Amino acid sequence: LKIAVLASGNGSNLQAILDRHAGGVLDVDIRLVLCNRANAHALERAKAAGVQTLCLPHVDFPDRESFDLAMIEAIRKAGADTIVLAGYMRLLTPTFLQAFAGRVINIHPAILPAFAGVRGAADAHAYGVKLTGCTVHFVDEIMDHGPVIVQAAVPVNPEEDVETLKQRIHVMEHRIYPQALQWLAEGRLVLDGRVVRLAPSDR
Ligand code: GRF
Repeated sequence: LKIAVLASGNGSNLQAILDRHAGGVLDVDIRLVLCNRANAHALERAKAAGVQTLCLPHVDFPDRESFDLAMIEAIRKAGADTIVLAGYMRLLTPTFLQAFAGRVINIHPAILPAFAGVRGAADAHAYGVKLTGCTVHFVDEIMDHGPVIVQAAVPVNPEEDVETLKQRIHVMEHRIYPQALQWLAEGRLVLDGRVVRLAPSDR
C-alpha cells in the first residue's frame, strides 16, 4: 500500500504509523507526508523518520479546487495511491475524492455518527456522554460520514477535563489507526453497501 499522509498539526497519529512501520508490523510504503501548514509538527516527525515531506500552504492558492489539484499532482508524483488523513483540518473537494476513489481514510475523535465536526472530543465532553472514543472510516463527500472501518470505546471518567479525555482518546487512536491501515494493506476491507466487512486473514 503506497500511502500519502495528510496532516495539519501535531501528527501524533502519523507518529504511531511511522513507529509501527519502523517496527516492521505495518506493511505500508509511506511515500509522502503532506502538510498545509509550514509549522505543522508532523513535518518534523516525517523528516526524522526519513520520509519525504511537502508543505503546500493552502493560503497560497486562490481556491479549494486549485489547492486540491496541486495536492493530487504531488501525491501522484510521489507514487502514492492511498490517502491517510491524520489531523488534516480541511475539507477535500469531490475532485480530490474522485482522484483517489475509495482510497481515502480518516480518523475522528468520537464514535460516529455522534459528534462529527472539528470539535468531536470537546463536543462529546460538553454533552456529558459517559462513553465516547474514536472512529476510523473511509472518507466520502460528507464530513465524518463515510463507511466505518473500526471504532474504539473510551469511557469518560467523572470529573475528567476535556484535555485528559482527549489524551486518552489519542491513546486509542494510535492503536486503531495503524490496525485499520494494516487491514487495508492486506486487502481485507470489503465494502458491502456502507458496511465494511473484515475478510479473514490468509496468513
Ligand atoms: C486526532 O484527534 C484525530 O482524530 C483528528 O485530529 C487529531 C489529530 O491529532 N482527526 P494528531 O495530529 O494526529 O496528534
